[in-house]
Amino acid sequence: MPQTGMQHTRTVEQPGREAWSCRSVFILAAIGSAVGLGNIWRFPYVAYENGAGAFIIPYLFALLTAGIPLLFLDYAIGHKFRASAPLAFRRLHKRAEFIGWWQVGICFVIAAYYAVIVAWAVRYTFFSVTTAWGDDPEGFLFTNFLRQQDGAEVGATLVPGVAIPLLFVWLAVLFALALGIQRGIGRANKIFVPLLIAAFLALVIRSLFLPGSLEGVSAFFTPDWNVLREPTVWIAAYGHIFFSVSVAFGIMVTYSSYLKRKSNLTGSGLVVGFANSGFEILAGVGVFAALGYMAMVASVPVDEVVSGGIGLAFIAFPQIISAMPGGALFGVLFFGCLVFAGYTSLISLVQVVIAAVQEKLGISRVAAVVGVGTPMALVSLALFPTTTGVNVLDVVDKFTNHLGIVGVALVSVVTLSWVLRRLPELQAHLNSVSTVQLGKPWIICVSVITPAVIGTMLVTELHSLLKDGYSGLPTLFVGTFGWALQAALIIFALVAATLPWRAPRNEFLPAAASQIEVRT
Ligand code: ALA
Repeated sequence: MPQTGMQHTRTVEQPGREAWSCRSVFILAAIGSAVGLGNIWRFPYVAYENGAGAFIIPYLFALLTAGIPLLFLDYAIGHKFRASAPLAFRRLHKRAEFIGWWQVGICFVIAAYYAVIVAWAVRYTFFSVTTAWGDDPEGFLFTNFLRQQDGAEVGATLVPGVAIPLLFVWLAVLFALALGIQRGIGRANKIFVPLLIAAFLALVIRSLFLPGSLEGVSAFFTPDWNVLREPTVWIAAYGHIFFSVSVAFGIMVTYSSYLKRKSNLTGSGLVVGFANSGFEILAGVGVFAALGYMAMVASVPVDEVVSGGIGLAFIAFPQIISAMPGGALFGVLFFGCLVFAGYTSLISLVQVVIAAVQEKLGISRVAAVVGVGTPMALVSLALFPTTTGVNVLDVVDKFTNHLGIVGVALVSVVTLSWVLRRLPELQAHLNSVSTVQLGKPWIICVSVITPAVIGTMLVTELHSLLKDGYSGLPTLFVGTFGWALQAALIIFALVAATLPWRAPRNEFLPAAASQIEVRT
């Protein structure tokens, strides 16, 4: 049972540690991380496939019982222990360090393919100006742009049309990271988050004025209440929330570690969680308004034009852009939004890895950016912009989201609630600095509801992947980029946690007694 009633809170003091200039910059950066590719292209079709309007109920349930409570948990760990994920978990308990490294591994992998989708969006921003896809956006995407071969093997042939923008995406991300927390990450979010909001509002308003848009929006909101009895719909809602809110994989632990000591954590968490969901629902309205227009032009029902993932952004939207008056501007806005949203999320993913390596090795930020960024960019460039990169991306994404993130989330909440029994202490920490006070419901969400739901998710997903494989792809291929990669992340985490902290000169070493201030 989680303990209750422990009221004092200890905060690790870290003089000289980088910090956000003020709480609003942190909130912008956290929103920049949360609002990403997941909001603009993933949420609309996940919602539509899982009961449309009725999906709002499991979605809000997942947000309130897992998304926001875990956001608070991440903030408490990062802010109290003032460190990147591995060191923060180590400061919680020596044996918990591996959880942080598991999260670092997950961020490494997600960043490697996330950057590729941002690079596609960069190219499509330019393609929109001339509607370069002509009459056949699907053929253009797979044959002309991605140059995909049939069959699932790893192509050694680099596709320069993807590799070159990908290189620029990596340079832009590493440049911001090298500048530091406030001057780099803070400033990038201060520019790109407002730009994203303005461009996205313009896009949604334009979509709503297209003929047929109301049919699209009404398809998005027409509920199929029967789906609420399906466990898969609830699983989809929880699965989406983790990725969308950026919780349980180290990002919010890392970002909150740069907050000043007196920072309203729960108030910030509520702003970030609801801003992310507001953006997401707005994305659903905008995307379905545009799909309603496309259905009207093609004289088919809306459900015939809905597609998921790559198809939605890179096939359906080009069709809409070609068909509508002023399509070029609309296309630049849509793909520009994907680039802005993806860029700020990508920065947060890479920062998790950089902060961890910087602290473990006791090296400077720039050395960590170069030392970590170079292999990350190389892995990303070697695996994905190839003639079979789309299949690799698909398998890596599926396994990392549905097994990796869910697995590490389950292990961390069970460890914190039931093994180390530290929730009351983290709750006391949150309450000592925040306006919105947390009580028993928070403990119940984190220690009972979340583990029960994600435990069920993990078992269901493992069963279906073991029984049916994935997407008809060959066993060796799925074994390598799916199962073996996830196993490698766990092994990496266990090994990294045994390596010594080499920090001869610095403030990052695991907290010594003198670094801990006891407050009551
Ligand atoms: N939270 C980010 C997204 O939704 C990772 O894309």
